[in-house]
Amino acid sequence: MCGIIGYVGSKDSVNIIIRGLSALEYRGYDSAGLAVLDNNEFKILKKAGKVAELEKMLESTSLSGSIGMGHTRWATHGGVTDINAHPHCGGDNVVLIHNGIIENWMEIKEELSGDYAFISETDTETAACLIDKTYKDCIEKGENNPTLEAIKAAVQKIRGAFAFVVMFRDYPDRFYCIRKSSPLVVGCRHESAKEAAGKFEAFCASDAMALLHYTADVVYMNEGEIAELSVNGIKFWDFSGVEHERETIHIDWNYGMVEKGNYPHFMLKEINEQGTVLRQTIDKRVIDNQIDLSSDLKWDLEQVKSWRKLHIVACGTSYYASLVAERLAEQFTDLEIRVDIASEYRYRNIRCGADTLAVFVSQSGETADTLAAERLAKSKGAHCLAVTNVKGSSLAREVNSILELKAGPEIGVAATKTFMGQLAAFSLLMMWIGKLRGTLCKSDETRICAELTRLPYKVESILSRQDELRLLAEKYAETTSRYGIVYERSKGFLFIGRGNEFAIALEGALKLKEIAYVHAEAYAAGEMKHGPIALLDSGTPVITLAPADSLLEKTMSNIEEARARKSPIISVTSEGNNAVKSISEDCFFISRTEEELYPMLTVVPLQLFAYFFAFIKGCDIDKPRNLAKSVTVE
Ligand code: M6R
Repeated sequence: MCGIIGYVGSKDSVNIIIRGLSALEYRGYDSAGLAVLDNNEFKILKKAGKVAELEKMLESTSLSGSIGMGHTRWATHGGVTDINAHPHCGGDNVVLIHNGIIENWMEIKEELSGDYAFISETDTETAACLIDKTYKDCIEKGENNPTLEAIKAAVQKIRGAFAFVVMFRDYPDRFYCIRKSSPLVVGCRHESAKEAAGKFEAFCASDAMALLHYTADVVYMNEGEIAELSVNGIKFWDFSGVEHERETIHIDWNYGMVEKGNYPHFMLKEINEQGTVLRQTIDKRVIDNQIDLSSDLKWDLEQVKSWRKLHIVACGTSYYASLVAERLAEQFTDLEIRVDIASEYRYRNIRCGADTLAVFVSQSGETADTLAAERLAKSKGAHCLAVTNVKGSSLAREVNSILELKAGPEIGVAATKTFMGQLAAFSLLMMWIGKLRGTLCKSDETRICAELTRLPYKVESILSRQDELRLLAEKYAETTSRYGIVYERSKGFLFIGRGNEFAIALEGALKLKEIAYVHAEAYAAGEMKHGPIALLDSGTPVITLAPADSLLEKTMSNIEEARARKSPIISVTSEGNNAVKSISEDCFFISRTEEELYPMLTVVPLQLFAYFFAFIKGCDIDKPRNLAKSVTVE
């Protein structure tokens, strides 16, 4: 979950590191730190808090060095303190940063406690000391390549997940990257001939996005791989020390895509990009109202026909998109479907095998539980498909096939445009499977494809009415003050919906919780009277997803039940649906669309409502407390 950046070249590394850390801050923002190696001396600066705090510290120092590393932390072992911030030193020889969890850190610490005085509470410091120890042993033995040998010896002893960047005091021209289970990408750039002919600048980061300013030519490190980055190039070994070559791949994202532009927050920018995301997702995949995913999915027809089961597995927002996918699959295919949260799926006695298409949904492609679930399904013989936004991600590289979201980089911690991309991709995928298996009706294909091409305009029409949602958020975020105590108008929110709209209720509640820190619960509308209705009173607004679908009348009865308990009703419904308006305190109209596609419209006002609510409360919208964008630990 932490962010890692490293540089070696002829330039000063400090600015490169700070820029990289700012781009990686979405991965964790408990503390930030950097280390440079200058005249064979490590210089380290680190601080609890965001990268801005580190930048302030830098103003009063004169740190520089042509080799360095930086880290943003999402705390696991040890509180959020300056001392626990990375980088960590191991003895005199080693400085290291880490993303992941070292499971046997106590054991290592005990083993080394006679030789090292540990100063932090982190698992990471034990790895730094262990590498220092193995390095000293290698020097004593007169090893030819003591740095590589030291790393090889240390990684054999460490259990858990790690991406390490390691610098050795005696080697100012190189640093090492080591990957086991936590993502790491390396990249290079040839300096211009004018500056230093033939020389390299080499970079590493936990996400290629952080390198885009310098290079789009990268290598995603493999499991169990060590890389040495120096001004002479990049070398790779496996953990047993066998050297191998790696090809660079070119990423088709550019630096402009990871900038906020004129928006105050990435989240707002990304919400506003959703019309474009829809266009990009269907581009070349819907032609003349027909679905064609043959360029994305090189499937063998016999294999597709041999599948009996469809598993869809994900976490968080990606899981809610999967719930919508479940209903699309029920409608367009004849497969037996199960949808699971990855952290549950991976520990169940799952029945899956060669008759199973197992779909793993992850915008980042790095979520630890989703990856572990995929490995389980693969080991049982399932055909694994990744639905992801990052085509170089760990998930994308491990599966049998990929369906790319085409949403462009998403930086805000709250997933918005990638959810839209997932919903659109799933509507295509389920139709495509149905088409190949002969279960998709021609009329459904034409109807859905035609509407998909109109949908971006309908999304944009909602986006053009953001002010209505700002006013709504202002109304419900209102506070009063009595005897010095601030009371919020709304104690909490209940989100309700039926069918696909239940998934959207879950997503709307998640958005409000994660960025505005407001308690929000989502319930299947028909389930409300089995318990949660007891929560309702005039201080608990109910947000209802009530588009004109086949379950509308049922949903309206549930609205009446909430109304009878004096809950203020905020409804999202289709235009012209005045019956819903008449029983709601506030009502937001969306365009009419096909029943299967309503989620792509109903979710937009909920994203904006949460955004404005958080804005009014003064929350740190792009970096909500305790969260990180990619959950790369279990
Ligand atoms: O990268 P992934 O799609 O695998 O991430 C899954 C969840 O961590 C993610 O959707 C999370 O719930 C977001 N913060 C939601 O806004």
